[in-house]
Amino acid sequence: MALKSGQWNRKHLIRFSMKEFRYLGPIKQLLTFADISQKGPVQDDEIQIIMNAGILFEDEKIKSVGKHGELLQEANNLNAEIIEVDFPAVALPAFIDAHTHICFAGSRAGDYALRNAGSSYLEIAKAGGGIWQTVTDTRKASGESLSEGVVKRAKNHLKNGVATIEVKSGYGLTVEEEVKMLRSIHLAARQLHIDLMPTCLAAHVCPRDFSGSNKEYLAYLLNDLLPDIKRESLANRVDIFIEDGAFTADEGRYYLEGAQSMGFEITVHADQFSTGGSALAIEMGALSADHLEASGSAEIKALASSSVTGIALPGASLGLGCPFTPARELLDAGGSLAIASDHNPGSAPMGQLVTQAAILGSFQKLTNAEVLSGITFRAANALGLKDRGRLVAGQLGDVVLYKTGDYRDILYYQGSLKPDTLIKKSRVIYTIDD
Ligand code: NIG
Ligand code: FE
Repeated sequence: MALKSGQWNRKHLIRFSMKEFRYLGPIKQLLTFADISQKGPVQDDEIQIIMNAGILFEDEKIKSVGKHGELLQEANNLNAEIIEVDFPAVALPAFIDAHTHICFAGSRAGDYALRNAGSSYLEIAKAGGGIWQTVTDTRKASGESLSEGVVKRAKNHLKNGVATIEVKSGYGLTVEEEVKMLRSIHLAARQLHIDLMPTCLAAHVCPRDFSGSNKEYLAYLLNDLLPDIKRESLANRVDIFIEDGAFTADEGRYYLEGAQSMGFEITVHADQFSTGGSALAIEMGALSADHLEASGSAEIKALASSSVTGIALPGASLGLGCPFTPARELLDAGGSLAIASDHNPGSAPMGQLVTQAAILGSFQKLTNAEVLSGITFRAANALGLKDRGRLVAGQLGDVVLYKTGDYRDILYYQGSLKPDTLIKKSRVIYTIDD
């Protein structure tokens, strides 16, 4: 066993322990990210690493982090359950994947082959492949089987240290089918120990079988879908794809204003192949503008001086063979950068957040601190979550533990060094030898 928890088997403790306090240590390097700004460049010496550290948990949250000796004493006084780490370990805030489409059926291996043989993403979409292919497959699938797919993909993320995953709908594109997708995401969440955060992406594209204009489709969503989503508490976030072949900025403004007036948070698929989406995201006060591969200096400067987090999706660049988001430029201009997997069957089938973040770091010359900030507290901020992303008192006890004495190994091995342990809300939910 990698970790020792008294004389008990940890798996039993996960299920039956009623203790309020739990202690994890010793940890060779504990990366707190305590005081790093949400915006701008970050140097590695700003991470705030506690050497030979421990974490004391109280219920679902971190009570304190500090030096192992002192905290262990406090933990014993509190009669805490002691989880002893018997190897050199690095602890970080569990990762947050702020943009995925892991609720889908079918495969788009054919699109990938076509693209690599010379067709473009937009050409394939116009010919009825692309997103429409996945819509066709997803509509045929039952809610249960969609949910099974989400659980399977989320477990893969979990094994890579991710404890919070945003999951979009957007392959249903009718009221009934979008509701089916969002319910499936909720059903999956009930079977997992990590958090899923659903987002309504019914405004992904106007479906080919909708008899009306883009604007009429958006009106249909505003009138018939979003009130149902509110009533059933299926999502509190709404996303739209602003792009040729999807929606214009004017259409987006109309839709997002309506969604905001119903109390939804908003996010935008922006500047993937052409610009326009990021300006709309800024204008509307979106939480994030995601993609940005096509953003130029003007878009990046505007984003940097706004409160909108730019989310780079290197998995989509790798899947499509497109340039990476200008992440270095965004940070240098003073912007906030998060990094997400975009895991979906079309543009980003890989679904390996740490690998993709490491590769983005290598190509865009990002420090370890910038990459890791982008998948922890800056990703949390992009989701409007204030309770996670840093290892400090009061935050959720969401921790990823690696079996190494040097945190730089995590990005150096570009995702091939796997986490040893994942702790969610102060409980061990996964160890590598499970
Ligand atoms: O983020 N760009 C639009 N939506 C997804 C792709 C969805 C798909 O191709 O199935 C994205 O890349
Ligand atoms: Fe996406």
